[in-house]
Amino acid sequence: MATTPIFNASCSFPSIKGIDCKSYIGLRSNVSKVSIASTRIATSQRRNIVIRASNGHAKKLGMSDAECEAAVAAGNVPEAPPVPPKPAAPVGTPIIQPLNLNRRPRRNRASPAVRAAFQETDISPANFVYPLFIHEGEEDTPIGAMPGCYRLGWRHGLVQEVAKARAVGVNSIVLFPKVPEALKTPTGDEAYNDNGLVPRTIRLLKDKYPDLIIYTDVALDPYSSDGHDGIVREDGVIMNDETVHQLCKQAVSQARAGADVVSPSDMMDGRVGAIRAALDAEGFQNVSIMSYTAKYASSFYGPFREALDSNPRFGDKKTYQMNPANYREALIEAREDEAEGADILLVKPGLPYLDIIRLLRDKSPLPIAAYQVSGEYSMIKAGGVLKMIDEEKVMMESLMCLRRAGADIILTYFALQAATCLCGEKR
Ligand code: PBG
Repeated sequence: MATTPIFNASCSFPSIKGIDCKSYIGLRSNVSKVSIASTRIATSQRRNIVIRASNGHAKKLGMSDAECEAAVAAGNVPEAPPVPPKPAAPVGTPIIQPLNLNRRPRRNRASPAVRAAFQETDISPANFVYPLFIHEGEEDTPIGAMPGCYRLGWRHGLVQEVAKARAVGVNSIVLFPKVPEALKTPTGDEAYNDNGLVPRTIRLLKDKYPDLIIYTDVALDPYSSDGHDGIVREDGVIMNDETVHQLCKQAVSQARAGADVVSPSDMMDGRVGAIRAALDAEGFQNVSIMSYTAKYASSFYGPFREALDSNPRFGDKKTYQMNPANYREALIEAREDEAEGADILLVKPGLPYLDIIRLLRDKSPLPIAAYQVSGEYSMIKAGGVLKMIDEEKVMMESLMCLRRAGADIILTYFALQAATCLCGEKR
């Protein structure tokens, strides 16, 4: 990749003005051509030029300034192109008196340059966290319900995918493991095996890419023979405090392997404070906690559960995940998580819950994350494959809307595709 400041400038342009990708790309190429030319001159001159305050050597093009002014004063005004004629309206257009409006908001949307100037929200690859599915295999296995997503071999496919993401500016990932059935138990103890799939993968990635930001998922469901995020009592109750005990061990194990941000997605009460204390007790004061603050009991998680084969064996997750009908309840969760020491508050799913993102954005000074979940991703993909919608445009619009609602970062399976689009390059 070229490293001139100009290349970087032109690459960052569409990431500043994200949504109207195509038209900005057109605009950008002109802009960058001009600036490349002028910068080349500037750099070649810089080496041996002495900068003077006077303009003693101004180049002569013809008449002097005084002669020009005298000519105009004498009435010999030079020619410039005429004002173009008014564009014609189609035959049959009614002839009317213009409306007497003192505000016409369309003036501020009249051209790509004007729209770019007044765009309120921006989006860049730096805002994305890329969720990646990993498994023990050597090959990458396509996930049927999520076109374009794979269970990646932790040693090869994963490393390649991370390299691709970093090349377009996505340097944050979150790992989701597909755990062998034989290792699943009712208490999910594999979750804190220091040599389990996740800790092993973290160590491999950190060895290759020390500056990669690794988020981990803290919850028992991939490790639980019941497919629930917590330990299930014989009457079906999900045991809160006992589960939190396990989650603390899981978070510490992930931190020990090198995780930067542990992300409890289980929705047990009190787990943020307990995990903070457990991390601190082990010397992991610098490991952050991204709490799934408002995680709803949503049907939009369907494709994810297929990806990890983590469907609950019975019942649903409604005694711990939130009721989709509830708004104020998100504030109760947010206050607890803030008080317990969360560094980032997450809302999940994303697009159907924009009001919750906005609520937390307005009520908390903490960074807000939005999770554009598997069902949201798959619907856009399916609509695109069926040619019912323009996949790329809907993808960029949905991500921009999450930013507009107040999300600082977005966990999205589109991270690589969207960042590639923002960099203006098809790969
Ligand atoms: C489980 C977990 C889930 C997701 C992330 N972590 C599923 C669930 O709660 O059942 C869903 C992500 C997605 O649908 O993309 N701890």
